[in-house]
Amino acid sequence: MGDLYVPLDHGRGGVAAQVASGLRDAVCSGRLAPGDRLPSSRDLAADLGVSRGVVVEAYEQLVAEGFLVSRVGSGTRVAPAATRDRAAPAGDQEPYHDYQSRATSPDLGHFPRERWLAALRHALTTIPSDALDYGDPGGIPELREELAGYLRRVRAADVDPANLIIVGGVAQGLSLVLHVLAERDGRPGRGDREGRADPEGRADRAGRFGRGGRLGLAVEDPTSHRQVPLLRRAGADLLPVPVDERGLDVAALRDRPARAVLVTPAHQYPTGVVLSPARRAALVEWAREADAIVLEDDYDAEFRFDRDPVGCLQGLAPDRVVLAGSVSKALAPGLRLGWVVAPPALAGAIRLARGEFDLGSPVIEQYALAGFLRTGGYDRHLRRMRREYRRRRDALVRALAEHLPEVRVRGIEAGLHACLDLPAGWDEGRVVATARELGLAVEAVGPMRFAPGRPAVAVGFSRLPVHRAAEAVRELKLRMSG
Ligand SMILES: Cc1ncc(COP(=O)(O)O)c(C=O)c1O
Repeated sequence: MGDLYVPLDHGRGGVAAQVASGLRDAVCSGRLAPGDRLPSSRDLAADLGVSRGVVVEAYEQLVAEGFLVSRVGSGTRVAPAATRDRAAPAGDQEPYHDYQSRATSPDLGHFPRERWLAALRHALTTIPSDALDYGDPGGIPELREELAGYLRRVRAADVDPANLIIVGGVAQGLSLVLHVLAERDGRPGRGDREGRADPEGRADRAGRFGRGGRLGLAVEDPTSHRQVPLLRRAGADLLPVPVDERGLDVAALRDRPARAVLVTPAHQYPTGVVLSPARRAALVEWAREADAIVLEDDYDAEFRFDRDPVGCLQGLAPDRVVLAGSVSKALAPGLRLGWVVAPPALAGAIRLARGEFDLGSPVIEQYALAGFLRTGGYDRHLRRMRREYRRRRDALVRALAEHLPEVRVRGIEAGLHACLDLPAGWDEGRVVATARELGLAVEAVGPMRFAPGRPAVAVGFSRLPVHRAAEAVRELKLRMSG
């Protein structure tokens, strides 16, 4: 291929990240089309006046992000699925496509394309035509059966397929559940008071409509800042509760006027702590006493490395806990496939709400996932990825111990990210900006806190190749001390 326009500011540092960014822009703007072959790393390095290693690093990063594919013998090309709609939205909105900096994303370069294609092909060649009609808004029975079995086996969940609803990921699951709870248990919100007809008999005894009500929802502090707008939009008024070394402080929760609590017991986001057995029992006891619901966000529970498997909270109290999970970390977030398991009455209301909102999830992908689970493809993929992520985690932890011993590393027993407590005086924002220039997936914990806390960052290791860890951490140390 001919010349490639890649603007560089040699004085700014982070040259590999600049090359990656220039190439990403070229793909997003359509200057590079799917299938286009890129120059060899040697040629591009010579054109740009940088070392070959810089270009190799940029190519590797873009392969991990799914923009490029690299095959022995045919060089590096723009990935078939890399199209211009990956571009950030115009205006001052936050870009949706921030895969590079998301600490919890999996390595999408390892998405099992061939095996997923086979599962889709099998689904399309075997399902009857009328299976393509509007289905049950709660999901196809085949997938609900498979997932119920999987969650019982792997997460020690207590699941009847009738109480499992297929959703478009944990995010949609939480939206639906909160919407239903706000309607059922919430205080009236603005515009819900008197003066409206009540053809469906939904007003409570005081004549108020539950619909659109506001629900007191306890959340972990710190908590995922990306989820906050979603929770509020679904009707939740947030009541922050501190997280310590054993997870959510249940004693503090008792002081909050909450009707529900949202927790990440398997691997707290972002601190990475695991909810202790005593706290689990106390949380269930609180829910029973307060007649409240626990929402269990099981977002990355497939990935456990050293410690014994920890079953989900839902298995301890299926009458009180709603379990939400998805394939976003195991396969890919873009599939938008997840599940919610709820006590029977709530499950019925969630399924009804899903039908009223949008009539349910795409069926072909549901059949494909059911087949992938049934044939063992899902388990095999997870086993392989667990091994790989463990190697990457170990490399990152080793590099941190060697080059940044003043940083405390937490939450590495599970999931795809670690939480780094920074030394006093280190600025979170500067660490994040510097680490991102080096291609690390890092997020500041500060914006996730309700109450002030020590500086910390969440760092993802799923896309950090083993051979790059030491160099990236060494360089981070160098730049932070400069
Ligand atoms: C803590 C946490 N919960 C939930 C989600 C959303 O997952 P899903 O893609 O299943 O909606 C994420 C995504 O990164 C997450 O980090």
